[in-house]
Amino acid sequence: MRCLKCGEKAIMELSRHNSAFCQPHYVEYFENQVERAIRRHQMFDRDDRILVGVSGGKDSLSLWHVLVRLGYRAAGLHIHLGIDDYSKTSYGKALSFARERGLELIAVELAERYGMNVTQLARTVRQAPCSGCGLSKRYILNREAYERGFDVVATGHNLDDEAATLLGNVLHWQIGYLARQSPVLSSAGEKLVKKAKPLYTLTERETAAYALLHDIDYVVEECPNAPGAKSLFYKDVLARIEAVSPGTKQRFFCEFLDHARPRFRAGGDEHTLRDCAMCGQPTTAELCAFCRLWERAQRRTAKQKTRPPAVSV
Ligand code: AMP
Ligand code: FES
Ligand code: ZN
Ligand code: ZN
Repeated sequence: MRCLKCGEKAIMELSRHNSAFCQPHYVEYFENQVERAIRRHQMFDRDDRILVGVSGGKDSLSLWHVLVRLGYRAAGLHIHLGIDDYSKTSYGKALSFARERGLELIAVELAERYGMNVTQLARTVRQAPCSGCGLSKRYILNREAYERGFDVVATGHNLDDEAATLLGNVLHWQIGYLARQSPVLSSAGEKLVKKAKPLYTLTERETAAYALLHDIDYVVEECPNAPGAKSLFYKDVLARIEAVSPGTKQRFFCEFLDHARPRFRAGGDEHTLRDCAMCGQPTTAELCAFCRLWERAQRRTAKQKTRPPAVSV
């Protein structure tokens, strides 16, 4: 297998592009894909202050690395979710990455800030951990970016993530989500910061290779709550299709963006945003979904505290 560009020995084969690259040309390919995604969707420019959501995994650390290499002004935000040892390891990886490169990392600990970690929250509201986890991450990323004056939030969602989300949205005809699923969401109002996913054309395998080539030490384990998650099942289904028909995953997502999403957007309702009565963050209801969830958790905790202790006879 030879590099498509220079004919040297290739280290990475990309069957969906019918190509292979040597180390320097693979890095060039990866960085070109990121730069092209940023320009194509007008995600941000070199004057903008970017807040990267850094989980400690390969995607978000590679994203932070590539943005800095390309000359963007990017700081990181890590949310310590309190999910067993997994969160400790993840925070450790994010912190060492930032320290070694002299980058600014902001850390927010869920339990310290809001009184409960993801595991305690899930137990209290009797819900799967992922829903409270996802909601809290989206809320905190937006809030911190707004309060600290960042222009855009960038996350490490890759092609596998986006294609799996799309498959889930299509299978359940989630019209509202289909209208909003995009590599970039512009700021809808002062308090809703712009969101960008510059890695959306690159697969998990490609970000892992980029991380390895740059000695990026990332958390390899999956979140302990991940097994059984629908998104993993959809990724597996898409991987099987891709093995038989390379390029399908990329076409599925990119052609959705070009041809189908504009139709969902045209038929969608525009919601008017207002400030949440409790926290002031943007929402379509009286209270935002985050405040509603945490209020429920606090009510349940208060109830448990006032309940008399069980008497055994
Ligand atoms: P996930 O929702 O775990 O698939 O992660 C998608 C993206 O969200 C990652 O690539 C990160 O950019 C961001 N993210 C996930 N977990 C965290 C976290 N604990 N702190 C900050 N950002 C995160
Ligand atoms: Fe859902 Fe981690 S809480 S995968
Ligand atoms: Zn080459
Ligand atoms: Zn709120």
